Amino acid sequence: MTELLQQAYDPEHFRREGHRLVDLLADYLTNIRRGDSPEKVLHYVDPNELYERWQADLAGAPHRDLGGFFEKILHDTMHMHHPKYLGHQTSNVAPPAALAELIGGLLDPGMGVYEQGTSGVALERLLVKELGKIMHWGDGTEGYLTSGGTLGNLTALLCARQVMVENDVWKNGFQGKQYAFLVSSEAHYSVARAVQVMGMGKRGVVQVPVNQRFQMRTDQLEACFQQAADEGVTVIGVVASSCSTATGSFDPLADIADFCEAKKLWLHVDGAHGGCALFSKKYRSLLDGIERADSMILDFHKMLMTPKLVTAVAFRRGEHSYQTFTQKASYMWDSDEGREWFNLAKRTFELTKSFMSVRVYALWRTYGPALFGEYVEQQFDLGKTFARLLAAAGDFEMPVAEPECNILCFRYLQPGWSEEKADRVNAAIRERLVREGEFFIVQTRLQGKLYLRTTLMNPHTTERELVVVLERIRVLGIGN
Ligand SMILES: Cc1ncc(COP(=O)(O)O)c(C=O)c1O
Repeated sequence: MTELLQQAYDPEHFRREGHRLVDLLADYLTNIRRGDSPEKVLHYVDPNELYERWQADLAGAPHRDLGGFFEKILHDTMHMHHPKYLGHQTSNVAPPAALAELIGGLLDPGMGVYEQGTSGVALERLLVKELGKIMHWGDGTEGYLTSGGTLGNLTALLCARQVMVENDVWKNGFQGKQYAFLVSSEAHYSVARAVQVMGMGKRGVVQVPVNQRFQMRTDQLEACFQQAADEGVTVIGVVASSCSTATGSFDPLADIADFCEAKKLWLHVDGAHGGCALFSKKYRSLLDGIERADSMILDFHKMLMTPKLVTAVAFRRGEHSYQTFTQKASYMWDSDEGREWFNLAKRTFELTKSFMSVRVYALWRTYGPALFGEYVEQQFDLGKTFARLLAAAGDFEMPVAEPECNILCFRYLQPGWSEEKADRVNAAIRERLVREGEFFIVQTRLQGKLYLRTTLMNPHTTERELVVVLERIRVLGIGN
């Protein structure tokens, strides 16, 4: 072995650097969670400047200074564990799950087939079966983990297409027929993208309008279905959002399930964010009706404290999960036709994928599902607290006055402002906040209007930080 290779694989170097890194991260966590921490959420730098900085760093390689590199990365990365991080709906990683990622990352077996993935493969199935239990799906539940909600939605809808269309589309294509899913106008864009990737074109999504709370209007399902039929489009399923991305609105699953049963349609639940309510007694009713869905996805890397990416794709009737792909790759497994739950690549999009189950399982096994439930309830409750503060403030407007979860949209508004001025001021507020780096929030457009948006992901965020961010927003808004 060469000298360089020996260095890269040296266990003592790994031990030393590993201890230093854990110390660095533990100090970071200790300091950052203090409400009065002077540390910023983000050290914002213009993209070109940051690129050039790293370009110069690379030009000087090799550095032989792994610890120094980790310190730089820590400085130049979003500090999501900071209580003033109020931005995207991406996981606030529980430290034990990061340790699990370390063992997963070093062992890194690959999960396509059992003989390679072993424990990781067994854990995947166990996790999906547990989800099946809490959804009251019974023992037949099958599924797997995949790399993100986008891929999860695509795989579930591919399965729906294969099961629902009489002709074998996988082998023969659509044979001139147009099929579609009914989808709320507020669904995540990954749903439309999946449908178009599947070759169903733009007409493959029939948009169902939403009510004032941005939930699917189930009273419009019949009309949308009929209109599609009149235009020669065969609807094969409904995709429900649990919840929608922009406003955190939960579509009424029980009503949608009634419609699907009456019309014999597939029901897919995109529970990327809100599927987490399954773990909470208090908020479980947001998902009433999920027990009648055919498939669902849940991102553990959103509301379940797990490093990215871990998405569960679950099928109520397990046999469906084997129908998605019929491609043969017999060098990998013995029986092409057999339902071998343990050879995951028969059913997943990926062949090789990361050892993702270990990250979720580590939390589940150590703390029990109660951990997820307590987190969900705390964060959803905090959403209600924030809504109360916004309503009491008087100079903020919310498109959804009573949020259903921890996603909130609002804008700063003064009497007499035009829509153009409201958009301009709120965009400027957000840009200033990001550049200042004390808080991080995001923005979205709803019905053409620009809103500030927060997802309260951090269990260390309290009412105090929410009061202070509103004060800061007000100061920036008045100054514009
Ligand atoms: C409702 C919903 N579905 C799907 C996705 C896509 O998930 P991912 O970013 O893991 O691909 C998102 C992402 O925000 C989402 O909010």
